[in-house]
Amino acid sequence: MSKMFTNENIIIRKGLPEDAPDFANLALLSEPPLFPAIFGSGVRGVMQNLFRHRRNLFSFEHSYFIEVDGRKAGVIIGYDWKAQRRGEWRTGLLLVKYMKLKFFTKIPSLLKAMSVVGRGEDNEYYVSSLAVYPEFRGSKLGTNLLLRAEEEAKRCGAEKSALDVEADNQGAIKLYNRLGYSMVGKPMRAKINRKNFAFFRMYKKL
Ligand SMILES: CC(C)(COP(=O)(O)OP(=O)(O)OC[C@H]1O[C@@H](n2cnc3c(N)ncnc32)[C@H](O)[C@@H]1OP(=O)(O)O)[C@@H](O)C(=O)NCCC(=O)NCCS
Repeated sequence: MSKMFTNENIIIRKGLPEDAPDFANLALLSEPPLFPAIFGSGVRGVMQNLFRHRRNLFSFEHSYFIEVDGRKAGVIIGYDWKAQRRGEWRTGLLLVKYMKLKFFTKIPSLLKAMSVVGRGEDNEYYVSSLAVYPEFRGSKLGTNLLLRAEEEAKRCGAEKSALDVEADNQGAIKLYNRLGYSMVGKPMRAKINRKNFAFFRMYKKL
């Protein structure tokens, strides 16, 4: 894979509102599919709409894209604890705006998901999403995105970087271990929309 491109052609840049379709495509690559389980069949549109807005947890403001030869290859979304506190309410309001009445039927799924992922603590930077398109994997793009997010985390004054990873996502866990992340405790489990989910919390001291 790495033979297809050279380092000179790789850039990491802040996300922009017009990256919304790629953000949704990439965020929906994770298995098992948590976002569709929470948000339902309209998940792609909802995620794109939130990405285009500022000051919410899915905003382009919190994203970095990696490009290879001008092609978008991957994305990372992360934010510090202050942005998380500020963004939570607005995320809820935007979900009501775009999901309308369906939002209220999805509240139980949302609450279950929030009990297993995304619990940010003070002085923490939270990586909520990391994904690379399959054809670009295995060339350290994911590593570079995570290192870029960690630089941002330090700039924000965070003492540690945290993320939640599916317990059976051995590839991603190996990547996080290699970059100095450690697992804490047992996996957090939830059944959402008839699917079983288990996530490990991983931390790295910055
Ligand atoms: C996890 C992911 C972002 C890694 O991206 P990447 O650019 O391939 O990562 P890197 O090249 O920097 O590191 C590769 C590591 O990821 C792991 N990996 C996972 N899936 C892989 C794949 N299809 N091809 C190659 N490596 C893969 C390998 O264990 C590898 O570890 P190693 O370098 O120690 O051998 C990417 O596989 C992906 O998008 N997966 C689907 C979404 C996902 O699971 N995201 C993480 C959610 S917590």
